Amino acid sequence: MKILGIETSCDDTGVGIVNTDTQHILAHQVYTQSSEHADYGGVVPEIASRAHQKHLPQLVKQALAEANLSFDELDGIAATTGPGLLGGLLVGSHFAKSLSLATNKPFIGVNHLEAHALTAVLTEKSITFPYLLLLVSGGHCQFIQVNNFGDYQTLGGTLDDAVGECFDKSAKLLGLGYPGGPLVEKHAQAGNPQKFALPIPLNDGSVNFSFSGLKTAVRNCVQKIDTMNEATMADLCASLQHTIARTLLTKTKVALTQSRAKNLVLAGGVAANKLIRSELEQLCTSQNIGFYAPPINLCTDNGVMIAFAGGLHFQAYGATPLADSCKPRWPLDTLNTNKKAAA
Ligand code: KG4
Ligand code: ZN
Repeated sequence: MKILGIETSCDDTGVGIVNTDTQHILAHQVYTQSSEHADYGGVVPEIASRAHQKHLPQLVKQALAEANLSFDELDGIAATTGPGLLGGLLVGSHFAKSLSLATNKPFIGVNHLEAHALTAVLTEKSITFPYLLLLVSGGHCQFIQVNNFGDYQTLGGTLDDAVGECFDKSAKLLGLGYPGGPLVEKHAQAGNPQKFALPIPLNDGSVNFSFSGLKTAVRNCVQKIDTMNEATMADLCASLQHTIARTLLTKTKVALTQSRAKNLVLAGGVAANKLIRSELEQLCTSQNIGFYAPPINLCTDNGVMIAFAGGLHFQAYGATPLADSCKPRWPLDTLNTNKKAAA
């Protein structure tokens, strides 16, 4: 089956086409809106919705051209229907539903978290269920036990900010710009990670996170600094990155013990961070656990993962009714119940 997938839940407009039988990616088109949100230091929902609307038609055309396919040759049109920013979800899913009506192809609504959770099955041919997923992005920070397709268990997650949000908001405090993660990583290269003693948040042995306090700790440090020069900036960025990496490492140790998983998958935009990647990989190696991180351009939001999850969903449960609405909140665990009921 050849499925077209549309992703518009946050600030990346993604369109992908996947052959779900052969597990081949036929097209991968993304428009990243970072520059449109940069002045505001974070994602502005209304700007995101309008940008999705503006760029989707061209991206779909480009994806079909890249795959060398016409609409007639597609078997389904999938779109993210939650969780995420409602405006963007409505733009993407209505666009997909219109295409579905116009081309007489089935529409498939996809849970964004399920799509992230299954990307490793597409990209890492050697991976087997079950595995533990650590999803770390601007909007998500959670551990998900992926037992099988349609069988997920959220082990823990953030009680407030996502980890990417902590990078972004701290970078904004430091006047570095948006998105903050790559800028903090760049400045951290020349810094001393021990210079500022930042607390490991919610260091309570649980697998939940809390990053809002860490952001406040960064602000307190900034307020105490008389003049911020390049060296101090580097030290503060290195200390922040080190603390976040330590936090993820500490929590992952507990989650691995709890889940008894033999494989760990790291996904989401923050998975691009070299220190975080290497520390988690070392932890897995030392515990004889497989470590997988899909390529960065498939860890961040994209249409390929929506197409792939959409194809699996269609095979198992058929098309999604066009009358189904979007869900800004849609925890993964609720999918298990829905699927059991549908079976
Ligand atoms: O997955 P993503 O593209 O979008 C969603 O938020 O869903 O993730 C974006 C997040 C931003 O918060 C960004 O600052 C962070 O990922 N990020 C990084 C790095 N690259 C992107 N954080 C730390 N280090 C990086 N190199
Ligand atoms: Zn995402």
